[in-house]
Amino acid sequence: MNRFTRRAALAATTALLASAGWLSAAHAQSPIVIKFSHVVANDTPKGKAADFFAKRAAELTKGKVKVEVYPNSQLYKDKEEMEALQLGSVQMLAPSLSKFAPLGVKEFEAFDLPFIFDDYNDLHAVTQGPVGAKLLKKLESRGITGLAYWDNGFKVMSANKPLKSVEDYKGLKMRIQSSKVLDAQMRAIGALPQVLAFSETYQALQTGVVDGTENPPSNLYTQKMHEVQKHVSVTNHGYLGYAVVVNKKFWDGLPADIRTQLTQAMAEATKVANDDALKDNQDALAKVKATGKTTVYEPTKGERFLLKKAMFPVHKQMASRIGEETIQDIYKATHFDPTQM
Ligand code: LMR
Repeated sequence: MNRFTRRAALAATTALLASAGWLSAAHAQSPIVIKFSHVVANDTPKGKAADFFAKRAAELTKGKVKVEVYPNSQLYKDKEEMEALQLGSVQMLAPSLSKFAPLGVKEFEAFDLPFIFDDYNDLHAVTQGPVGAKLLKKLESRGITGLAYWDNGFKVMSANKPLKSVEDYKGLKMRIQSSKVLDAQMRAIGALPQVLAFSETYQALQTGVVDGTENPPSNLYTQKMHEVQKHVSVTNHGYLGYAVVVNKKFWDGLPADIRTQLTQAMAEATKVANDDALKDNQDALAKVKATGKTTVYEPTKGERFLLKKAMFPVHKQMASRIGEETIQDIYKATHFDPTQM
């Protein structure tokens, strides 16, 4: 399909889905349909939580709401899904926090700052507290309501060469998500960042369009990226997680009792995502190791410290883009002292 016919097909699908969504809301007896699109596999923290939400939404609303989950970029790729949400062609998404800046909400890129969270406790101090709520509120002006944060995990680096010292990254073309902070992070270690949709990453690695990438192990494993990456380094240098978002107009237009039931289903799904994420990532890493084909390297304390030292200037460099206030809010919530670097 050329670019033109692809665009035309997308527009036609969008119009069709939009009218289908309108029809289902208009007819009280037919269920309200929530199309929930995402880009990862079912068997990931996000995939499982989305499926769980669909099940609980049906149960709690007694069939009045039908959540249709479209995983693996089946319906839309990264950039398209954001557009589709704003147009109302899908009602719900859970994009990674790195993908909100193109909407103009650059504060979300604070989550991409390397080494900003030491662990899930630090992360939850932000996502489950007032700082996280304040960030979600910023989406409203974009026609989007933020419902929850779902965990994934801390990222590993991968390539076809061992990644031990900072020098090992020099000149490597690394796939990143569409975040200027991730771009700066890769440049800080001498790598050449390249933004690609998640759905295009495996092929780009396979064909050598890029040399390596970063992702939590659950994404690496379920997309089979390890099959085209000989080396994984467990750097845990940054975090990748999600904001579950709905089209605001759609959400505000729901009957109040349905919104309450969906809020309950979302709270339960959030627990599923957050309870399973750590284990899912540990299991995925073990499975990558078990293939015997990809080396999984645990950097020494010293190697990790040098990586942190090289990447840390990104915090200052990106402060005016993200907003000093958001960064300070996160430092405070996590008791992070930047002068210790
Ligand atoms: C990526 O693009 O690497 C991730 O955002 C994919 C995802 O949704 O976890």
